[in-house]
Amino acid sequence: MIRIFLTGYMGAGKTTLGKAYAKAKGIEFIDLDWYIEKRFHKTIKELFAERGEDGFRLIERNMLREVGEFENVLISTGGGTPCYFDNMEYMNQQGETVFLDVPIDVLFRRLKVGKHQRPILSNKNDAELRLFIEEALQKRLPFYQQARHSFDGSFLESHSQINESIEKLEILLLANSKK
Ligand code: S3P
Repeated sequence: MIRIFLTGYMGAGKTTLGKAYAKAKGIEFIDLDWYIEKRFHKTIKELFAERGEDGFRLIERNMLREVGEFENVLISTGGGTPCYFDNMEYMNQQGETVFLDVPIDVLFRRLKVGKHQRPILSNKNDAELRLFIEEALQKRLPFYQQARHSFDGSFLESHSQINESIEKLEILLLANSKK
């Protein structure tokens, strides 16, 4: 039975790598944000606006417990998922956890383009965005680093880079998998 949790900051490439890896392995891909949006018939942005961040984190916690029971899946979590409640401990119990580690410069470049879908970032200018990423990473790294594996998510910009990353991730997971 395969159950992998992919974690890391916004823009780390969790969805890009997760989707491609799940397809290559013939397992189901679940993006926790999309799962929440489908279950609640609302966008993440709407849930933040209606319930505040605390309300969203509670939903996220509960939905993680739902998808965390599924088998033969790769679950791409939200950037904040490992940092609230005992979510990281839960994921470590339930399956293989991978922290997609990406340098700030790369995150900043990706998020400058992708910030509009993300309620936490959408109203920030470049300088604010960079500072926000730096400060958030400092707070979040201790949680991300509790993942069983760490993987460099910098190289996901083309099909060939994605394919190489899939192979490297496979090797990492096979080499260190739980007995
Ligand atoms: C968040 C990350 C988002 C989403 C929400 C909050 C965060 O997920 O869950 O906007 O706190 O980092 P992605 O990392 O998939 O963008």
